[in-house]
Amino acid sequence: MPYTTGWAIRPVVVWGASPCCGYHSGMTASASLDFERYDRVRPIRWLGDRLELLDQRKLPFDVAYVTCNDSDAVATAIRDLVVRGAPAIGIAAAWGAVLAGRALGNRVASGAEALVEMQPALDRLQAARPTAVNLAWALRRMLGVLHGAGEDWPQRLEAEALAIATEDLAANRRMGEAGAALIETGSCVLTHCNTGSLATAGFGTALGVIRAGIANGRIARVYAGETRPWLQGARLTVWELQQDGIAATLIADSAAAHLMATGQVQWVIVGADCICANGDTANKIGTYQLAIAARHHGVKVMVVAPSSTVDMSAASGAQIEIELRDPAELLGVAGVRHVADGVSAWNPVFDVTPANLIDAIVTERGVIEAPNRAKMEFVFGPMSSA
Ligand code: MRU
Repeated sequence: MPYTTGWAIRPVVVWGASPCCGYHSGMTASASLDFERYDRVRPIRWLGDRLELLDQRKLPFDVAYVTCNDSDAVATAIRDLVVRGAPAIGIAAAWGAVLAGRALGNRVASGAEALVEMQPALDRLQAARPTAVNLAWALRRMLGVLHGAGEDWPQRLEAEALAIATEDLAANRRMGEAGAALIETGSCVLTHCNTGSLATAGFGTALGVIRAGIANGRIARVYAGETRPWLQGARLTVWELQQDGIAATLIADSAAAHLMATGQVQWVIVGADCICANGDTANKIGTYQLAIAARHHGVKVMVVAPSSTVDMSAASGAQIEIELRDPAELLGVAGVRHVADGVSAWNPVFDVTPANLIDAIVTERGVIEAPNRAKMEFVFGPMSSA
């Protein structure tokens, strides 16, 4: 892939290959990163006939897995946030499709036939959560396999789910090094929500960049916002980093602008649930206000997401469906209500950060600085119709 200085689309160096075409990513050899040390948690386990999901509602004090024996159990687990994070939702849905196929037994002779019978279950998986496009992306891949498959459709379905997970892990590792290469040594970073191994097949997106930046010495300190109301930052991110021996400092979401104003952070590094054709990005509620504060204070914003999170059929953020969840999530913590009876609440759980507030989008296909539609199309192909 050529290095285009004018557009600042930086290729990700192929895993293990030397820098090409005069491009130097700042990445050290991939072998230098100790993935055993810097990637210990796995949220999704396929056991051949059932799926186990690490119950993220119970972390950090209870490490327990929920067993899903059928696709509807997977759809429920996605909806109820047993499994969460855009890539992890997609992977879980792919295994949900495998379970939907297994429920047909041996009586279906072709993929096309299986597809017809599985459609209601696939629709229920699709409807589990609306904003993370990885869910629809993964199910499209599963459908694609069924279309062309003969009698071996069950094996091919399972192989595809495994491929989705394997590719996600590889993408995260590549993005980790590519994103870390953008960060000056000694920088402090702020992240939001949870984008780590818990939210992916492993290593994480934004948290992968942070892991790589810690490992190669570029990142001096990590701050994590607590991420009200579900507390992904407080309950998941700082715990996950602790498993790797990485100390992170938790802040109240409302402390972020003060952190920036006092010069304590140089990058905001976040994940994404949908990146549009113009670079507008949906992510956990609060990301937009972080990006506004960051621009005001000269702090840079990095979005890290695999290409499965890119939706080239969405022209801009205006087309992203923002999930509204139960207001009860805002009215109490861990089931204990702290808001007076009769008070109502509004609970959108994602927001859209306009592309012009994003300094870099890091995907496994390359780094896009100052994203816009032309650059997105250069990397991901022409905008498609929905
Ligand atoms: O509601 P959640 O916890 O699923 O939201 C997760 C996020 O917003 C993440 O930042 C995003 O999915 C990227 S995860 C790699």
